[in-house]
Amino acid sequence: SVSSAFDFAPNLFPLSSTAQGYTALGAPSNPALDPTSALNGGSLEKNKSLTYLNGLSLVIGLIIGSGIFSSPAQVNKNAGSPGAALIIWAVAGVLAWTGAASYAELGGAIPLNGGAQVYLSKIFGEWAGFLFTWCAVTVLKPGSAAIIAIIFGEYLVRAVIGAEAVDASAWLNKGIALAGLILVTALNCVSTKLGTRSADVFMFLKFVALLGVFVIGIVVATTGLSYRGDANTDWKKQGWFDGTSHNISNWAVALYAGLWAFDGWDNVNYVTAEFKNPARDLPRVIHTSLPLVILCYILANVSYFLVLPTSIIESSNTVAVAFGSQVFGPVGALVLALFVSGSCFGALNATTFTSGRLVYAAGKEGYMPSLFGTIGLGKSHRAIRLHAATSTTATTKKMATWFADPDAGFFFTPIAAMLLNAGLTAVYILTGSFDSLVTFYGVAGYTFYFATVLGLIVLRVREPDLERPYKTWITTPIIFCCVSLFLLSRAVFAEPLQTLLVVAFMAVGLGVWFGWVGRRRGKERERFRNLESASEKGSGWMFWKRWTG
Ligand code: ARG
Repeated sequence: SVSSAFDFAPNLFPLSSTAQGYTALGAPSNPALDPTSALNGGSLEKNKSLTYLNGLSLVIGLIIGSGIFSSPAQVNKNAGSPGAALIIWAVAGVLAWTGAASYAELGGAIPLNGGAQVYLSKIFGEWAGFLFTWCAVTVLKPGSAAIIAIIFGEYLVRAVIGAEAVDASAWLNKGIALAGLILVTALNCVSTKLGTRSADVFMFLKFVALLGVFVIGIVVATTGLSYRGDANTDWKKQGWFDGTSHNISNWAVALYAGLWAFDGWDNVNYVTAEFKNPARDLPRVIHTSLPLVILCYILANVSYFLVLPTSIIESSNTVAVAFGSQVFGPVGALVLALFVSGSCFGALNATTFTSGRLVYAAGKEGYMPSLFGTIGLGKSHRAIRLHAATSTTATTKKMATWFADPDAGFFFTPIAAMLLNAGLTAVYILTGSFDSLVTFYGVAGYTFYFATVLGLIVLRVREPDLERPYKTWITTPIIFCCVSLFLLSRAVFAEPLQTLLVVAFMAVGLGVWFGWVGRRRGKERERFRNLESASEKGSGWMFWKRWTG
């Protein structure tokens, strides 16, 4: 079943050398290190068990998160009217859909772990892959974690303390967001097994919640029944397109907020290798899951409009609380707030987990200081293991074994990597807001989505005969590239500060590559060429070399 995907044994030994299965970043040589490895083919041929339905719930569960409960405010503020907002949601969804289809082709053509990092390395050279990893570590991972944590904080504060507190103090929200982050990081440092199981349950609940929101919206709109007798009638009076914004930059900002809700579609290709019949099922999964999510989001938004005045939708990032309160009163607000904050907590847990492994792999690869490529408590862990092996008293032996047992997983986690990620996330939580972070994340993310999908087109021209188990229409990547290029070009005008920040991060990343990591890489390659011998042919290292040239 799908649950087994997250249910891997956190066996972090052996911490194998680069020569063994040297696939790519984000895909450590030991598949057990990678939470998605059971999905992304860490065990490439071994575990071909995913069915169409598994894939479907997986993808839907990855995409539906905080966004549909938090983005509507920013979408509506910037689109200006309900009709324009719905168009934004549809465009964002279709963009995600074309992106996912493009990534699926790449995943089939380049069957290696690591997603964009590998594709970019293969198509444009290793510097591009490094730059992606650099930005994933410094911007994408902590940025998205910060957004989720902030929404977690806002919903939880609303649930427990009440709406006034949220409006009164952004710092209270941030405090709770930080507390959530610290808790999740601590849990993940102690053990990899804690809390990863909730994912499946939420996957289902989120889907049901969105359908529930829609059904309730229709009932409220047709019967006029709701806890607050004053049924919303804005939608009857106001034209759907009254007030539509004429400013293109506003549309871009709205689109970034919508895209946040659809983000995660790039994870689709991680499941490629695990399907029993990837060539048939992967396209089927994408071409049903994305339309389903798009439909769900549009229905949920229609429902928001039917139940709530636009002024309320625009006024906070916690539209679900307003919705629950309008229909069911304080209890409804509480239930929805707890539900969404719980869902965010689960998402935060999952992303903390993957981030730790990403940074860890970057450390191992030599893309980051090697400190980040260490597991657990370093030397002391070895001492504990030794102690466990040689100890005589039953109690100390038991304690030491428990503590040092990779399967129990206590502290056998990439602690340094997760602390770095948590530190960066905290900086984003403290300095950013939902609105600013969503654009910041979107600009950085879509730069790489754009580059990767452009790479697909390059690859079609350069290697037309490459085997592609799944091939999209060429219009798909072209549409994706055009729309994301528009989006990126508008960002400069819409949010110059955030855009500049992203550019700065990339400039630093390029500096690090050309000044340091890349040079060392070149030297290593030189040395390797001299060492190359028949015995090494066919190793993972050779495979990697062949791909990255
Ligand atoms: N779409 C998700 C949400 O609405 C965000 C996914 C974050 N992206 C990621 N790759 N973790 O919350």
